[in-house]
Amino acid sequence: MTRFAWTCESTDGAARAGMLHTAHGPVPTPTFMPVGTVGTVKAMTMDAVRATGAGIVLGNTYHLMLRPGAERVRALGGLHRFMDWPGPILTDSGGFQVMSLGALRRLDQDGVTFRSHIDGSEHRLTPESSTEIQHMLDATITMCFDECPALPAPPEAIAASMRLSMRWAARSRQAYVAREGYGQFGIVQGGTEPELRAESVRALTEIGFEGYAIGGLAVGEGQELMFATLDATTPLMPQDSPRYLMGVGTPDDLLGSVQRGVDMFDCVMPTRAGRTARAYTERGTLNLRNARHATDARPISPHCDCLACTRHSRAYLHHLFRANEILGPMLLTWHNIAYYQRLMRQIRDAIGQGRLNALADTLRAQWQASDW
Ligand code: GUN
Ligand code: ZN
Repeated sequence: MTRFAWTCESTDGAARAGMLHTAHGPVPTPTFMPVGTVGTVKAMTMDAVRATGAGIVLGNTYHLMLRPGAERVRALGGLHRFMDWPGPILTDSGGFQVMSLGALRRLDQDGVTFRSHIDGSEHRLTPESSTEIQHMLDATITMCFDECPALPAPPEAIAASMRLSMRWAARSRQAYVAREGYGQFGIVQGGTEPELRAESVRALTEIGFEGYAIGGLAVGEGQELMFATLDATTPLMPQDSPRYLMGVGTPDDLLGSVQRGVDMFDCVMPTRAGRTARAYTERGTLNLRNARHATDARPISPHCDCLACTRHSRAYLHHLFRANEILGPMLLTWHNIAYYQRLMRQIRDAIGQGRLNALADTLRAQWQASDW
């Protein structure tokens, strides 16, 4: 059996290229995890997800506990078998998703009571129950149950929330059942206050986890403040453990965060954009509903090996979206995930060759340039 571990293969400045070893196979890092909230990367078959080169996908405790229920997923052989993804799966703990329910939730020191967005029924999540549900799902990587405060908020509120999350992290660790090749990540909170982030890192490393996530960012603070917070946080984090920036982001966010020492990402952007006709490319984004694509016989990107780009024109994608055909979101989601995975491969290769800053300059200039 494989021990859960992250091994560093090369560094370039603060950036690291390495390998995450898990019970469900290895994943080269830095890596982008497509979001499979309810046990599907929306509009993608699992073969398509694999074809993009994705190595690990994300699932959500909150959604899966409500439907179809963690017990049913367990009875059907776990989430890997249920969704036909034999590779590693990371599940988020539900804290963040419950928070976005707004008035439908009630927070106390022990956990969160909330109403289902599906049928209004009442449910409760605690560090213990979230950890148990993730175990029933058979998550390769279990996330601690945390609270992610909305920003901006007064420093006292951020501090109180972070300390609650740290007490919950200790309880999540207590509830976690260690298995060979599996891991649990703590989540650093503390808003954009460097002292609070430092206190949070100390609290989590004292407990000890297989990896450490950075939460509470990309919640409206802007890229500059997010990068400043990373600059104050990643140098304090353990060197020999994977670092995961939750819910981030644009290609430029990923690049800048890797340059600041982050190894793992997840974000709905490429999948959501794919369903709304927005394509990520080496030359920035395109909206395929735009009339200028109606007669364009070129592929979305000349550098892409996805099904949309190897077999279809921009004009065809434009037509599919105008006609509200379901194949439009399918092809464009594939393309966007393929783009994100290609970007991560370029980043990993550049770190290995000590030329990440040069790559970053080139990519940023190209994102600003006009279409081919
Ligand atoms: N996803 C994006 N941000 C967060 C966070 O702060 N906590 C959790 N659990 N998930 C997230
Ligand atoms: Zn493509």
